[in-house]
Amino acid sequence: MRTRVIGTGRCLPETVVTNDDLSKIMDTSDEWISSRTGIKERRLVKTENTASMSVYAAQEAIKDAGIQPEDIDLIIVGTLTGDYVTPSTACEVQAAIGAVHAMAFDVNAACTGFIVALNTAHMYIQAGICRTALIIGAETLSKIMDWDDRGTCVLFGDGAGAAIVQSADTGILGLVQGADGTKGMSLACQDRDNHNPLVQSDRQLHYTSMNGQEVYKFAVTKVPECIHQVLDQANLTTEDVKYFILHQANIRIIQSVAKRLKVSEDKFPISLDHYGNISAASVPILLDEVNKKGLLQRGDKIVISGFGGGLTWGADVIEW
Ligand code: ACO
Repeated sequence: MRTRVIGTGRCLPETVVTNDDLSKIMDTSDEWISSRTGIKERRLVKTENTASMSVYAAQEAIKDAGIQPEDIDLIIVGTLTGDYVTPSTACEVQAAIGAVHAMAFDVNAACTGFIVALNTAHMYIQAGICRTALIIGAETLSKIMDWDDRGTCVLFGDGAGAAIVQSADTGILGLVQGADGTKGMSLACQDRDNHNPLVQSDRQLHYTSMNGQEVYKFAVTKVPECIHQVLDQANLTTEDVKYFILHQANIRIIQSVAKRLKVSEDKFPISLDHYGNISAASVPILLDEVNKKGLLQRGDKIVISGFGGGLTWGADVIEW
């Protein structure tokens, strides 16, 4: 029993913020941002939130899959920026779309969140616990950015992507996922402080901090390694793969991964130029773009890979 992607969807906030827009409110420039990252613009929420974007992306995926919300028996959202600590974003989605038969929960594996959510659903499907799952990666990263820290806030954006997966004869052919908590502080965002009758904190707000060079070194070594592992599992080589759909952190990371794999950059679709880095949402948004452009045919092999906070990483090879 395998797990096949049968539909995809995405939702981006309406408001486009270009690098030039940012240069009017902080000491930065289009030249600095685009030459180091490839990012030209990103979408930021005004009225949207993590749940509303998730719901829209889910409805698009449901339509694309040709199923009904009642057919879904599991919803998993990969996110680190849910609107509430509880209820989970997945429970908010379940209510909004009327997926009355679905169990629902969130997972936090940062930029690897969609991969971990997908693999968790795959385990449920393989165990015979469920047949059809809705998997979402969704983030409102703009709310955990320090907008006075030009070194981080220019990199990130908001959005959501979704996929419907179902038990089938083909689909996920191999998967790898891992974590190295010893390097966790190189990309961190602290939650609220202890505050109770015994401990009084000043309740400072905490924002995302990043050691960009350390994250870069981690990504360019770990991603090619886990892609090789997952292809070995499936008894495939890079030549069998039509597209490598990678987490959209930085064009330099993607170029370096392509070079290390000895694969043409043409096989690496890009969306970071117009959306920036949307953590768990990057992979499903790009997957939906590739799917809706009609670039995938039944039988094509693709690799998806996420990497980032934790530090975490993961990759799947999927037969379409
Ligand atoms: N505009 C203008 N100047 C800036 C900006 C900005 N937005 N941000 C930083 N600078 C300045 C710094 O102040 C510094 O100036 P100084 O030399 O006078 O002190 C100079 O630019 C260099 O700063 P660094 O932080 O050393 O910049 P670096 O060359 O390392 O590039 C970057 C930063 C692009 C983040 C790089 O480290 C990188 O590509 N890292 C990969 C990690 C990544 O992409 N993370 C994204 C999230 S993680 C993930 O999703 C996996």
